[in-house]
Amino acid sequence: MKIMVVGSGGREHAIIKKIKLSPLAEKIYALPGNGGIAADAECIPIKATDIEGIARFAKENAVDYAVVSMDDPLILGCVDALNAEGIPCFGPVKDAAIIEGSKIFSKTLMKKYGIPTAEYETFTDCAEALRYLKGHPAPIVIKADGPALGKGVIIAQTDKEARDAVISMMEDKKFGESGTKVVIEEFLTGPEVSVLSFTDGNVVIPMVSSMDHKRALDNDEGLNTGGMGTVAPNPYYTPEIAAECMEKIFIPTMKAMNAEGRTFRGCLYFGLMLTEKGPKVIEYNCRFGDPETQVVLPLMESDLLDVMMHVTEGTLSECDVRFSDDSCCCVVMASEGYPVSYEKGFEITIPEDISEDVFIAGAKISDGRLLSDGGRVLGVTARDATLAGAIEKAYARVKRVSFANAFWRNDIGARALKAKGGK
Ligand code: AMP
Ligand code: GLY
Repeated sequence: MKIMVVGSGGREHAIIKKIKLSPLAEKIYALPGNGGIAADAECIPIKATDIEGIARFAKENAVDYAVVSMDDPLILGCVDALNAEGIPCFGPVKDAAIIEGSKIFSKTLMKKYGIPTAEYETFTDCAEALRYLKGHPAPIVIKADGPALGKGVIIAQTDKEARDAVISMMEDKKFGESGTKVVIEEFLTGPEVSVLSFTDGNVVIPMVSSMDHKRALDNDEGLNTGGMGTVAPNPYYTPEIAAECMEKIFIPTMKAMNAEGRTFRGCLYFGLMLTEKGPKVIEYNCRFGDPETQVVLPLMESDLLDVMMHVTEGTLSECDVRFSDDSCCCVVMASEGYPVSYEKGFEITIPEDISEDVFIAGAKISDGRLLSDGGRVLGVTARDATLAGAIEKAYARVKRVSFANAFWRNDIGARALKAKGGK
């Protein structure tokens, strides 16, 4: 089969490396991919948001199956456009991708169907939002309604920060149209867990749980980033909590989307917070998480492409979806200065024996050399029978990968390890 993957990050590299293992995959295109992905797929320079260009390419090249794994094309209706050309896809249609595309949609859905989440109000008027803040002191959370590259969430620790956030989003339009509507919600506390799941609208099959590390610096200090590293499984996510999430969150969400006429087929990502009052949804994503995918897929023992095709066909219940009991750790190596400003264009060297375990996020090829070309450059992963072993191996590998200006967190997995008593 000819497979096409739409996206260009470390997540797409992990997906492509896994799909490559399937006996069903004969040829893989990446649109646009990146310099690292080029080792595993043929990269085609069509932007992930050029929906017409993607559909045309797929048709002209007789693509048999497409995987759309990036938020923007999903929210823009890439799957609908491909389906219109008769190309089956993994990923939700536009009407279902709205679960990530609009926070007001997802919050309203959760309220309507009794799915546990933070208390909230939505606002389209700046003065009203500011009035509401007077009765709701900090800490409080302000979220832009639409997509804002992961930066549209402000955790305001003071009343002034909360007011400034509302004004910058609603009046100054810091996130453009995405921020003209906002959600103001209760500040929750507790360990965070990411759960990626496969769903075809009939059943939902969670993958192994994981833990992201969103802040740029050690000890969860510094700015929020796209994610500086991950571990799987997440030790806070016990079998009891998993059962509770299945009953109160996962199945109700799948059924709610069906009831709204927005059946979700693809990877539904649950960003959860385990509060004293039980697990609550912090956010939904309509796709695999990045860098969660880089630790989840290496633990998957089933044929990913086969599972994806069952999702598309609505026959996921017939599928055997298995994960190893091992642990996995991914350490992101970024460019110094990320997420604000950074230099790029430095040569990357990766020893051959670990290249299968390095997922490239931001790199290009120039004169046959692999050069850094983004904030997050790559993720180095390792798998082991224990979490402690996986972390140790991942950091040993980080020392063997090099590019000028690289920086990374030194405590990926430390909190998880502590929760497990060091094992
Ligand atoms: P989101 O983009 O919605 O995932 O939010 C980004 C991060 O902000 C989350 O991973 C949480 O760490 C934090 N966050 C979001 N909503 C809340 C909330 N209601 N209470 C506390 N922290 C939150
Ligand atoms: N790692 C969080 C996300 O993919 O949105």
